[in-house]
Amino acid sequence: MTQDELKQEVARAAIEYVETGTIIGVGTGSTANFFIDELAKIKNKIDGAVASSIATADRLKGHGIPVYDLNDVNGLSVYVDGADESNKYLHLIKGGGGALTREKIVAAASEKFVCIADGSKLVDVLGAFPLPIEVIPMARSMVARELVKLGGQPVLREGFTTDNGNVILDIHNMEIMEPTKLEQNLNNIPGIVTNGLFALRPADVLLLGTEDGVKTMK
Ligand code: A5P
Repeated sequence: MTQDELKQEVARAAIEYVETGTIIGVGTGSTANFFIDELAKIKNKIDGAVASSIATADRLKGHGIPVYDLNDVNGLSVYVDGADESNKYLHLIKGGGGALTREKIVAAASEKFVCIADGSKLVDVLGAFPLPIEVIPMARSMVARELVKLGGQPVLREGFTTDNGNVILDIHNMEIMEPTKLEQNLNNIPGIVTNGLFALRPADVLLLGTEDGVKTMK
């Protein structure tokens, strides 16, 4: 199976977690796009969705799925999104597509977070994928110096601006042995809007696409 077929397989499996008559949170990226296409097939079952990016909102609307502002809903039954890496505790690295801030907000607003990924995303130790950090532009150099002190090598994502008007520093070469601790430390650096570690609020379920079918981890 190709990587896209594995992504499609988990996207289909995630439909089972969509509750009738609710508003759901929808993530960003190629795997989330497959999920949106599956969601379109059952769109009458849900009241609508809250999107984690402008790109996702556009895709949902393209399928005729109502998109709500998070401020206009009381809560979300489930959040479905991909990841760049996951460990066995369902701590994630996210933000490869640069949507990490809205993704973290929508995940926090959801009762359940279902992560969908092809098998290549499961790792023993997080950090081979560069950790994305969304930064207020004026703080870029100061934050980069702080990240070096933490042992990482920050690299500015050239020519990229987030949906919130900020920049991304990707931290290379950092083995993340204690994801919750690092997430907290990064949260304390002024100028960082969001870091791409989802460990304090990990996924509740990971649906992993493998050659032998969808593996469910909780
Ligand atoms: C978007 O900002 C990311 O968090 C994505 O969820 C992550 O990069 C996974 O993307 P793919 O599904 O395209 O691999």
